[in-house]
Amino acid sequence: MNNVFYIGQEIELQSFIESKKYEAIYFLVDAKTNGFCLPILKNSIPYFRNMDSIIIPDGEVNKSIEIVEFIWIEMLTKSIARNSLIINLGGGVLTDMGGFAASTYKRGIDFLNIPTTLLAMVDASAGGKTGINFGGIKNCIGTFQSSIATYINPIFLNTLSNRHLLNGTVEMIKHALLHSEKLWNEVKNYSLNEFISIKAIQQSIAIKQQIVEQDFNDNGIRQSLNIGHTIGHAIESYSYQTPTPLLHGEAIILGLIHEQLIAESILNADSTIRKELIELKERLFTTLNFTYSFDNIISNLLQDKKNNSSIKMSLLQSVANCKIKEVVSVEALKKSFTQL
Ligand SMILES: NC(=O)c1ccc[n+]([C@@H]2O[C@H](COP(=O)([O-])OP(=O)(O)OC[C@H]3O[C@@H](n4cnc5c(N)ncnc54)[C@H](O)[C@@H]3O)[C@@H](O)[C@H]2O)c1
Repeated sequence: MNNVFYIGQEIELQSFIESKKYEAIYFLVDAKTNGFCLPILKNSIPYFRNMDSIIIPDGEVNKSIEIVEFIWIEMLTKSIARNSLIINLGGGVLTDMGGFAASTYKRGIDFLNIPTTLLAMVDASAGGKTGINFGGIKNCIGTFQSSIATYINPIFLNTLSNRHLLNGTVEMIKHALLHSEKLWNEVKNYSLNEFISIKAIQQSIAIKQQIVEQDFNDNGIRQSLNIGHTIGHAIESYSYQTPTPLLHGEAIILGLIHEQLIAESILNADSTIRKELIELKERLFTTLNFTYSFDNIISNLLQDKKNNSSIKMSLLQSVANCKIKEVVSVEALKKSFTQL
């Protein structure tokens, strides 16, 4: 597992990078993190001041092979050698795509993640999954490659909208559900300010790391991190075809609630978790009002890279008790819509 450096450990981060004796170090930033985050970072760590950047456009639509090609061309133009470092400064789109570009350029060069959104801090930048969207399928092409380190500084969250902050809370909610009753009982009552505290962020990263360490290649227990994501991804993909596309976390909170209903019918799960999730959604996501039907999501569900003909899901039987690879029939899924 990679090293995580937190705010206050800037000297340790610098020594760690220096110890690698890189030939060159470049930042990968998007239009927004170039403006909002890079100046803050260079101000707090002067060592980074003279380093050049590759700048890409921001947003999920740009998580594409065309932008990766642009990054590879920039790397070649700058004669970036194998013993170089790319520092990905941005949200999950940038850390996923920068990790993918670096892990494939010249058969792989080192990259370091500095996540600047809550979602990227607690989830996307940790765990070694890199990738891009392709053929209309989210994260269809990618690699498993850990960053050499991650640096977490919540100062970057100051310029993030409330909507994007809330977006990141959902993976923290998921981590708490997977971890323990004790943590879930705390997290389900968190305010947004509590979610963005360094303590909560640190705790959430530790839970993800603990799971990933046991199953880096995602063949077993790591699949517990997929709760809410099978239906959530299908809702997210469908929402892109509507005038009101959802952010990842918004789709996942809906997916968590819907999958919990399925867990109730298939695994006899207690309805308390679903009721608590609905309460939490209504308290935090006050303007989230997105409807979808069976027909809207079924084709996406069957296309999801985790499913072939049957729909397999990770389902929570109770807090901290997740069942993976549960087969859900199309009929059972259809029935859940009448109960939603
Ligand atoms: N690899 C993984 O394990 C993993 C896990 C979860 C999600 N993801 C991926 O993460 C992506 C979503 O990430 P995201 O929610 O961070 O979205 P994002 O990367 O698109 O960032 C959201 C927006 O905020 C801007 N931004 C970033 N930091 C900012 C800051 N500090 N201040 C102001 N603006 C800022 C970005 O430029 C962008 O416009 C998805 O593509 C998803 O697939 C990956």
